[in-house]
Amino acid sequence: MQKVRKAVIPAAGFGTRFLPFTKAVPKEMLPLVDIPTIEYIVREAIESGIEEVLIIINKEKECIRTHFGHNVVLEEFLASKNKTKELEIIKELPNKIKVEFTYQEEQLGLGHAVLCAYEFAKGEPFALLLGDDVYVGNKMPATKQLIAAYNQTASSILGTLEVPDSDVSKYGICKPLPNEKGTLLKLESVVEKPKLEEAPSNLAIGGRYILTPAIFDYLKTQTRGAGGEIQLTDAILRLMEKEAVYSLAIDGRRYDIGSKKGFLEATVDFALKRADLYADMRDIINERK
Ligand code: G1P
Repeated sequence: MQKVRKAVIPAAGFGTRFLPFTKAVPKEMLPLVDIPTIEYIVREAIESGIEEVLIIINKEKECIRTHFGHNVVLEEFLASKNKTKELEIIKELPNKIKVEFTYQEEQLGLGHAVLCAYEFAKGEPFALLLGDDVYVGNKMPATKQLIAAYNQTASSILGTLEVPDSDVSKYGICKPLPNEKGTLLKLESVVEKPKLEEAPSNLAIGGRYILTPAIFDYLKTQTRGAGGEIQLTDAILRLMEKEAVYSLAIDGRRYDIGSKKGFLEATVDFALKRADLYADMRDIINERK
């Protein structure tokens, strides 16, 4: 069985839900305190044992590339001022992992974005992490949980969360085979953004996947689906005719950074987790009660 060593992070969307901020700055650079959200995603991949990361961007988003590379001028400046702590902060990640980039020329949908990773995957299974979903795993990072399930099944794994009826139409929804029980379930089908009355369950795909390279065969020929977009979920449904696909309930807290409420919740929680900010954030909250 091939190991999961690679991760793909699509980051080429327009971020229309966060306008006007996203007019000039990619939504992936929205900070949770002082770290861009996409850095949390890359760190989750590293902590899950991933060795190579590909970020899919567009021409307007070069600052994401800048963020993950060495900034020699800044490094020399900080060194000359003896700002060792700051120097460590900016050098740590580029020293730890080499992040590669590719461009999605047209925004044709998530399935189309993932197809841009074809060359990078080179026939290997890979983790797919969507930037809107930031996880704090209970015992281990979300992607590590999925890799463990892949190691057990040698199959594609869709990380899931349970959503209320009011939200099923916002997600890809899984239908497990009858009699499947527990947290790891073999799937019968998946459907992208169904109406409530057509939703087969409340198990929503939560922005984390392990995909076998066979997915590319289906992405190459995938026609447009929900919202007129080339949907990854539709290609996964076709993949199921050839290979088993499983869902795994992710054990952890998920923040939907794509929504303003999720972004604000994450900002508060991440500040509360920081020793240098805990007291200040508590004061801010208490003063407003
Ligand atoms: C995408 C996927 C969807 C998944 C969701 C998770 O949708 O297409 O299946 O449930 O991410 O966040 P989007 O939110 O990009 O519309």
